[in-house]
Amino acid sequence: MRVQVAIVGGGPAGHLLGQLLYKAGIDAVIIERQTRDYVLGRIRAGVLEQVCIDLMDEAGVGQRMHAEGLVHGGFDMLFKGERHRIDMNRLTGGKNVMVYGQTEVTRDLMDARQAAGLTTIYEASNVTVHDFDTDKPRVRYEKDGPNGKEVHEIECDFIAGCDGFHGVCRASAPRSAIREYEKIYPFGWLGILSDTPPVHHELIYANSPRGFALCSQRSHTRSRYYLQVPLTDKVEDWSDEAFWQELRLRLDPEARAKLVTGPSIEKSIAPLRSFVTEPMRFGRMFLAGDAAHIVPPTGAKGLNLAATDVKYLSNALIEFYQDKTEAGIDNYSERCLRRIWRAERFSWWFTGLMHRFPENGEIGQKFQEAELDYLIHSEAGARSVAENYVGLPLDFGE
Ligand code: APR
Ligand code: PHB
Repeated sequence: MRVQVAIVGGGPAGHLLGQLLYKAGIDAVIIERQTRDYVLGRIRAGVLEQVCIDLMDEAGVGQRMHAEGLVHGGFDMLFKGERHRIDMNRLTGGKNVMVYGQTEVTRDLMDARQAAGLTTIYEASNVTVHDFDTDKPRVRYEKDGPNGKEVHEIECDFIAGCDGFHGVCRASAPRSAIREYEKIYPFGWLGILSDTPPVHHELIYANSPRGFALCSQRSHTRSRYYLQVPLTDKVEDWSDEAFWQELRLRLDPEARAKLVTGPSIEKSIAPLRSFVTEPMRFGRMFLAGDAAHIVPPTGAKGLNLAATDVKYLSNALIEFYQDKTEAGIDNYSERCLRRIWRAERFSWWFTGLMHRFPENGEIGQKFQEAELDYLIHSEAGARSVAENYVGLPLDFGE
């Protein structure tokens, strides 16, 4: 098979890229290791910045998102037992975010791809990338045949590494050409999904002496809640009842009274990590999304960053084919990384502000409370949180 762009990884980044390239008449194939259902079974965050909403529209898949997504103009920060609203809409001159699960984003993109008759190769095993230091890169994978091990090869002009944190593309870049920055946090998030009405119409980020908690949602009838837990905790240690009991203890009296509990549909523990790869281009292979960077989930920047990488990449490839210029490609890494570091900084800072760090002692907690007090009561402080939460425009600082 020969295509212009071989996209490795069929998560939200790979699928959005596929759709933007298709709209521009560029021929691409997606090679995904898992099945479609497996990809859709992963529960991830669900807050879309305006830039991401616009990209879904540009990709032609925004219809269900606008019908079912929930527009939020603010969120609450809870500390010392009291809730304070950050009025994002007012503080940013009218910007909002959209609460719409990453699973739904991916499903809409997959459906559009299928409807357009575009090729996605699912259950491709042993995917390898070759010759991306030349202008004839290749992707190989195994599928079909006896034992599912028939080898297939795709020739292409470019490889897009949208294969997530554990993917093959970043791992195939020459070690001497790559620099990685990483911070691992000493706790995880225990998440629960339940078919219960959300405790509040907006999100609540809670800084409690017992640890961080987040009240989020997927719809008016489906809630998503998280608790900060030690990394040594196992999901089996947490019955639903124990989860709800602990969540109640981390909320304010009003939320505690309003909380509706029920059986969990999903329960998992995720570690928290800040991670950035530099650069994001190796000859004719590009990294995008989780393949290149991870943020801790406080602030829900992961999907949004993946979407903006993909936008910069699709623009660069469109310029290459239509305008015969490599300027966009040459600039890709730098352009992405500037935006990525800004979001990494915010996610790291917001994580530090809201979680319990026992190693920082009582004085650490006092510093957090003073900072929260400042943010709530200073227009400048609140605006800084709001402007980062709603996200930077695509062309910021230009
Ligand atoms: N070959 C083919 N596909 C692969 C390989 C491989 N060697 N390794 C991984 N994949 C696939 C995974 O199965 C997955 O479907 O690549 C896809 C990567 O998808 P994601 O991990 O969802 O990453 P991305 O598309 O960049 O989306 C970023 O995910 O983690 C969240 O917060 C993050 O919301 C953000 C989003
Ligand atoms: C979620 O709904 O899963 C979610 C929302 C906001 C976050 C993180 C996760 O900051």
